[in-house]
Amino acid sequence: MKVVVVTGATRGLGLAIVSKLSREGYRLVAIGRNCSPELSRLIAASDGGIAFEPYDFNDTGGIHQFALHLGREYGRIYGLVNNAAVGHDGVLATMHEKDISELLRVNVEAPILLTKYLLRPMLINGAGRVVNISSIMATTGFSGLAAYGATKAALGGFTRSLAREVGRAGITVNTVAPGYMQTDMTNALQGEKLESIKRRSPLGRLAGVEDVAEGVAYLMGESAAMVTGTTLTIDAGSTA
Ligand SMILES: NC(=O)c1ccc[n+]([C@@H]2O[C@H](COP(=O)([O-])OP(=O)(O)OC[C@H]3O[C@@H](n4cnc5c(N)ncnc54)[C@H](OP(=O)(O)O)[C@@H]3O)[C@@H](O)[C@H]2O)c1
Repeated sequence: MKVVVVTGATRGLGLAIVSKLSREGYRLVAIGRNCSPELSRLIAASDGGIAFEPYDFNDTGGIHQFALHLGREYGRIYGLVNNAAVGHDGVLATMHEKDISELLRVNVEAPILLTKYLLRPMLINGAGRVVNISSIMATTGFSGLAAYGATKAALGGFTRSLAREVGRAGITVNTVAPGYMQTDMTNALQGEKLESIKRRSPLGRLAGVEDVAEGVAYLMGESAAMVTGTTLTIDAGSTA
């Protein structure tokens, strides 16, 4: 059974990715700070197919040891989905420095370090998949999301160079860029603002977490063996 690590798997998109990949027959290691009731239910129904590992990605200094622990517990990792992120927003001029630091640490430094250490078993296997969850905000921009947008754009650059670096070893690296999805991260956006985003989308609705999880499953699978260094946008056409 191929083992896939998904970060930020307790809620929202990460939870949907774990659910989808588990149904596709992968063994999942779901990471977050605290296990949620929803993830606990998935684990209970998975017959050992899903495990929870707690980790706070603010602790970047411990990521090497954590990756070694994952290797010891679950064997050689096949896939990694870098999904965990914080979504602090606000105009840059008044944003607290600690929020900017956390954005850079959790959304950029932590996934780069975790990838560095989980790439090792993939290089030994001569096979592997890395999927980085970015956002359409990385390229469209949005007032109030300058620092967050910078972190999401960083993942696109990371994807493209790393894809070149590890392609010969049979490892693909891709980005998924979701549009607006209704999760805890976005629950402040409601009412008329939400309706106007829906109206502006060519498909007249928003892509949900399950739609985005389908894209991740595609990139994880054999059918995407020739896809690397690219961005799969799943936004119901909002950026068309
Ligand atoms: N929602 C959107 O509209 C949208 C649009 C485009 C892209 N995205 C991207 O999609 C991804 C998932 O977003 P979401 O909407 O599902 O967010 P969410 O509902 O807020 O969930 C965030 C996940 O990340 C984890 N996380 C946050 N900080 C962490 C830390 N320090 N250490 C470990 N885990 C941490 C959370 O775990 P805990 O339970 O431990 O807090 C949670 O599982 C993110 O990369 C986000 O940038 C979201």
